[in-house]
Amino acid sequence: MLPADPRALFEIPDEIAYFNCASIGPLPRASREAIEAGAARRAQPWHVTMQNWVDEHEERRALFAGIAGAPADAVALIPSVSYGVAVAARNLAAAPGQQVLLIAEDFPSDVYTWRAFAAEKGCGIVTVARAPGEPWTEAVLARLDARVAVVAVPNVQWTDGALLDLARIGARAREVGAALVVDASQSFGMMRFDLDAVRPDFLVGVGYKWLLGPYGLSYLYADEKYWDGAPLEENWLSRLGSEDFSSLVDYREEYRPGARRYDMGERSALELNGGGLASLRLMHDWGAAAIAERVGALTGRIEAEATRLGFAISSAPVRGPHLLGIELPREAARRAFSLLRERGVYVAFRGNAIRIAAHVYNNDADVDRLVEALAEIA
Ligand SMILES: Cc1ncc(COP(=O)(O)O)c(C=O)c1O
Repeated sequence: MLPADPRALFEIPDEIAYFNCASIGPLPRASREAIEAGAARRAQPWHVTMQNWVDEHEERRALFAGIAGAPADAVALIPSVSYGVAVAARNLAAAPGQQVLLIAEDFPSDVYTWRAFAAEKGCGIVTVARAPGEPWTEAVLARLDARVAVVAVPNVQWTDGALLDLARIGARAREVGAALVVDASQSFGMMRFDLDAVRPDFLVGVGYKWLLGPYGLSYLYADEKYWDGAPLEENWLSRLGSEDFSSLVDYREEYRPGARRYDMGERSALELNGGGLASLRLMHDWGAAAIAERVGALTGRIEAEATRLGFAISSAPVRGPHLLGIELPREAARRAFSLLRERGVYVAFRGNAIRIAAHVYNNDADVDRLVEALAEIA
């Protein structure tokens, strides 16, 4: 359950209004303590136990699986989104003349990986832009035809939270025989993911933003049909029986079950794992519905105030409930950065727009602080 004052679980002073977890989320106190305990144990490695090596990351896998609505077997523990997208690219096919469909201004870790994939396969990239006021979903569906081999899209555009209807895009992708790869970094934990409706081939997400975990621990979901695919690397811990340290040179061909074959090397993350675990436990305890309700209400209030002040909303016409893009007049954008910083307000700047990313630690006082600053900028 979400406590009455979730901010008390964080180390954010009252005079800071932090609306930038879409860039990097704050570690909750419990996660910082767990990382410090992990570091202390590594300073005296004789305290490192079999449980630290083998069991604790399985709990992290299971907690993430709960958030993704997937079985734990379908989840791999990876270091970054680029790694997860590379796993997807390694296991997907495209013939020369076919295409990878991306949306305009998607995140570089996705775009660069698909560019490399296209160069290797001799296929093309089609980048879909949307007209002002057009929903992303319509723009994507209008271009998604039998020429497309892979659709690689997010659930929300990372710069402003504009929404894509993945169930509709997934259905169309299946119709034309294209694979669907989703970067859900900007929505995991904040929006319910309906795996049965979307049916992605691969799904990736970072742990250090909305999931409030340490940098370096991210997640990959792989549909069951890829559970016998090719990992990026051949790591000893990914092999069956590797928990028996005394027989490691009885080399085994078999991997651990499910998507575990895609786990990164050193996936036990001995110093960091406890932090990732603590953050996911909190997200789990708070519950998706309570998180969404609180963050949706705060973001909705900001949108209403920004509109009242005359700003245009760049994530219109449909946005994720937890993210908001506010367009500033060009001249105002220049002043806004230092003014917001002076007022203790932290947002991301994307061109002439600011991106507002609230989480459970934000409160009405933060919204007041932001709105007062916006009123000065307007
Ligand atoms: C949509 C999206 N994907 C991925 C990332 C991070 O990528 P990586 O884990 O490869 O550094 C970000 C970070 O801003 C992001 O916004």
